[in-house]
Parts: sequence; C-alpha cells; structure tokens
Amino acid sequence: MPSSRHYSVALVPGDGIGTEVIPEAVRALEATAKTHGFSLDFTDFDWSCERYHKTGRFMPEDGMDEVKRHDAILLGAVGWPGVPDHVSLWGLLIPLRRELKQYVNLRPVRLLKGITSPLADRGPEDIDFMVVRENNEGEYSEIGGRIYAGTEDETVVQESVFTRRGVDRILRYAFELAQSRPARHLTSATKSNGIVHTMPFWDERFKAVAADYPDVKTDQFHIDILTAHFVQHPDWFDVVVGSNLFGDILSDLGPAVAGSIGIAPSANINPERDFPSMFEPVHGSAPDIAGQSIANPVAAVWSAAMMMEFLGETQAADAMVAAIETVLVDEATRTRDLGGRASTQECGRAIADALS
Ligand code: NAI
Ligand code: MG
Repeated sequence: MPSSRHYSVALVPGDGIGTEVIPEAVRALEATAKTHGFSLDFTDFDWSCERYHKTGRFMPEDGMDEVKRHDAILLGAVGWPGVPDHVSLWGLLIPLRRELKQYVNLRPVRLLKGITSPLADRGPEDIDFMVVRENNEGEYSEIGGRIYAGTEDETVVQESVFTRRGVDRILRYAFELAQSRPARHLTSATKSNGIVHTMPFWDERFKAVAADYPDVKTDQFHIDILTAHFVQHPDWFDVVVGSNLFGDILSDLGPAVAGSIGIAPSANINPERDFPSMFEPVHGSAPDIAGQSIANPVAAVWSAAMMMEFLGETQAADAMVAAIETVLVDEATRTRDLGGRASTQECGRAIADALS
C-alpha cells in the first residue's frame, strides 16, 4: 500500500462500452478524491481487441512490467466480434489475473435502493452477500489435449488443478471476509458427490481451515441445489466461496438476482499486495449498444469504489456507493436498462455531482 494518500491507477478501458464507462468511473474518482483529501494519477493503456487486430498482441512485451508499477488497475471490458472470446480471455484477462496473482475474485451481490430484483417481493434487506471465487487454478487449466481429431475416436481431456496452497488461501480469504461481517457466515459450493477427487479434497480443506475460525458459522451445498437457493432464498447467504468454475457461475447468478448486469462490480485481488489488484465491471463490451452513450456506468463506478476500499479509502468507497444509490432512485439520472432516461455521461455526471 502506498505510504501517502496518493494512488496511481492503470486504466485499461478495453473494447466497446468499456471505453464509455471507464471515463465516468474516472470522473467519480476525481470528485471523490477532492472531497476526501487524497490524490490520484491515471495512466491509459490501449490494450484491447483493436490493438490485437493492429499488432497481433493485446499488450506490448513489457506491458506486464508497466502495469506492475501501479497501485491498482481499473479495467472496462475486453472482447469484440472478430476476435474469438477465448483468444481475448486467454490473451489478456487470464494472464493479468494469473501473473499478478489475483487469486481472489470478489463480487458483491447487493440489491441497491432503486433497483427492482427479478425475484418477486425481495427488497434490499433480503439480498446482501459476497461471492468469493478462486481465480487462478481449478477447472480453468491449460492441461489436457485432443487425440484422433475429426474421427469417430475423437477424444478430449481437460484436467482440473487443485493445490493445497491454492485451495487453502482462497478459503482463508473467505473465512476472514466472513469474520469481518456482522453475520459471520460462510457457505461453500461443492459437488463432492459427482466429482470424486477434487471436490472431496475441497470439502476436507474447508473443514480443516474452518477449525481456525470457530466464530464463523459454516455450511455447504452442492452447486446444483445452491443455484436454486440463490433464487429461492437469497437471504440465506452472507459469504459464499467456490472454485474457479463454480464461483464463475455463482458470480453471474448472484448479480442477476440483484438486478441489472449494468450495475454489477467485481474485484480481482492479490491479498498480499505483492502486485496490483484489478477492478472491473462484471459486464462485457456490449457490442449491441456500444457507441450510443446508453451504457450504464454504475458497474464501473462501483468497481472503482471497490478499488478505493481496497486501497484503504473506506469512507471514499462508502460515499461512492451512496452516490450511486442516490442516482439510481431517480428516473432522470439512471440509464435506459433500468427504465431511466439518462445517457452514460448524464448518469456519470449525476454521480460525480452527488460526490461533490
Ligand atoms: P455483455 O455483458 O457485453 O452484454 C450482455 C447484455 O447486457 C447485452 O445486451 C448488453 O447490451 C447488456 N449490457 C452489458 N453491460 C451493460 C451496461 N453497462 N449497460 C447497459 N446494458 C449493458 O456480454 P456479451 O454480449 O456476452 O459479451 C460481449 C463481449 O464482451 C464478448 O466479446 C465477451 O467475450 C466480452 N466480455 C468481456 C468480459 C470482461 O472483459 N470481463 C466479461 C463478459 C463478456
Ligand atoms: Mg463469467
């Protein structure tokens, strides 16, 4: 963490609406910095599918070293028609998450005031939990292969990788997060009935690590029924931890029950702070609405708030979320995806005004 209250932020707006929402996050950050007495500098990186088209690379050779010099990274979205999604994911996002040891992917699931949940009769008091996803190993591995391609004997193998170090550190992070919240309750996503090696191991480690956190209440569900509980009983959850794949699924389902994809934020965290952590909206580049100034900037602003919280500016982060809530209750300042009338920039300016 920086010793003074100055923070250097790497901006990677990326593609599509990423380039529209990140400037609004910057606007909100600048307004917050003024009222909360810290300072920021921003460096722009053009890492994107457009750059890949022109140069064959998403980032320059020394890109990773460049970005490591910053306190945090704020990313828009990467992906564009013409570049297969697995190319952009494995070309940029996964290398950043892995090389910067951002082994925690964190997504708050909160029904904000002003948002209607797709679940009937649910209010802000019912939906307020965190999904903690393992972000570096597990099911998303490059180990595997294909033989007899194109023949009737075609055979494909993909291996999962679960290390004790990797499992324990994500579980510890989740327990500590649960310990810091009033409910002190941690739920583990598993599937140890069907997946007979890695998931029983996950359960074993969950039990072993739990012994160090006797004040945290625990439970576990198989991933299939857990998804049903997210929809039917969102009020049962406080912190939910899952492997890379299960966490990925839960961390899209969670924000969906809390309203719109246009507001959902996320963080990729290196808890040891050896490397910068990265904050990004959950949504992608939205080619269908890109360039029209109608994208909702709230997910990007909320991600920026998570960044300030991680950098130790908790009051600033709380103020940013409060400003978002103010803007969301008013049709004139929320965007179309939420039934409002505001453009991306009008919504962004309203958030910045609420912060000033
Ligand atoms: P998407 O999130 O870009 O769009 C899904 C739907 O939600 C679209 O109808 C879009 O208009 C709407 N939407 C998304 N964000 C919005 C916002 N801020 N305001 C209003 N409406 C919003 O997901 P999709 O279409 O599956 O992916 C598009 C591209 O983005 C793909 O290339 C994909 O790989 C990439 N992507 C990148 C991610 C990242 O950088 N982390 C995450 C998800 C997708
Ligand atoms: Mg996902």
